[in-house]
Amino acid sequence: APLQPPEFKACGEAHDVGTGDRLDVNCCPPVTDKIIDYKLPPVTKLRVRPPAHKLAKDKENLAKYEEAMRRMRALDKDDPTDPRGFTQQANIHCAYCNGAHDQVGFKDLDIQVHNSWLFFPFHRWYLYFYERILGKLIDDPTFALPFWNWDNPKGMQMPQIFDNERSPLYDANRNQSNRPPAIIDLGLTNISDDVQKVVNNLTVMYSEMVRSVNSTIDFMGQPYRAGDQPSPGMGTSERGSHIAAHAWVGDPRNDPYHEDMGNFYSAGRDPLFYCHHGNVDRMWSIWRTLKTDVPKNLNDPDFLNASFLFYDENKQLVRVKAADCIDHTKMGFEYEKVDTPWLNYKP
Ligand code: C2O
Repeated sequence: APLQPPEFKACGEAHDVGTGDRLDVNCCPPVTDKIIDYKLPPVTKLRVRPPAHKLAKDKENLAKYEEAMRRMRALDKDDPTDPRGFTQQANIHCAYCNGAHDQVGFKDLDIQVHNSWLFFPFHRWYLYFYERILGKLIDDPTFALPFWNWDNPKGMQMPQIFDNERSPLYDANRNQSNRPPAIIDLGLTNISDDVQKVVNNLTVMYSEMVRSVNSTIDFMGQPYRAGDQPSPGMGTSERGSHIAAHAWVGDPRNDPYHEDMGNFYSAGRDPLFYCHHGNVDRMWSIWRTLKTDVPKNLNDPDFLNASFLFYDENKQLVRVKAADCIDHTKMGFEYEKVDTPWLNYKP
């Protein structure tokens, strides 16, 4: 059977996934009785998600993004129980990833949306509502979240717009050695030469998108159904570039968890997290268009019917299914077209 959504009333303590140690944080969401089965609203105009490095030169849209983030952060103070506030949004990640939610009917089994085939659909829905909330806060139904284009040499630094200390996009809890102009290391190799690092990054991308993917599950992650132990296994993208960027941004001064980006429970506190996951999500959409032999759809009903709960931009608690997020254009967003030079990096 498919994974069932958590019961918010039963939300409990969060713990570190690696050590099992209890975390000093309450990341449970506000409780509501009414749950609505979410229907994708009709798409009138697509939100086009831009690469973050380009937004630096697009003053108008950058200002909108910053204003939306400012308002989302302000909600934390105005009404800490508003599920659209930035802390509440960050807590979603903690609750779904650090064992605060148990599987309904399986008291001893945590819900864990990583390390399995739920990775892509969960994060796609998470970003979807995050984007809609930001758009709602500035009254712009076309607002689109930028993506961190780390798979292209032009985007292989932490995007400048996140490194401005006066911006609501800034987060002090990051590895200071990896602020711009440091080049990201998608293989976590510690290569010091920048040119070599870029080449290696492209090779990493080719490998996790093409060369190491011999089955749908290889890319999507291992099956995870109701009653299963969490974390059956990651797909190539989750294990590769995705984790690398988390580890690269997380702050080693924060021992042992490397908050913010270095741990599940705190990753969502860094605005860059959502921009990073924009590109992770983009990789899923690009992979689906690749002319490789591997089938791109998982047709298992336990995948398609897996469901989650989120608060939408109107503070309504909604139930969503993986099946409804497979075609992102039906969700009303698209990614700006950018070159994918790694497609030519066959080792
Ligand atoms: Cu939910 Cu990048 O992790």
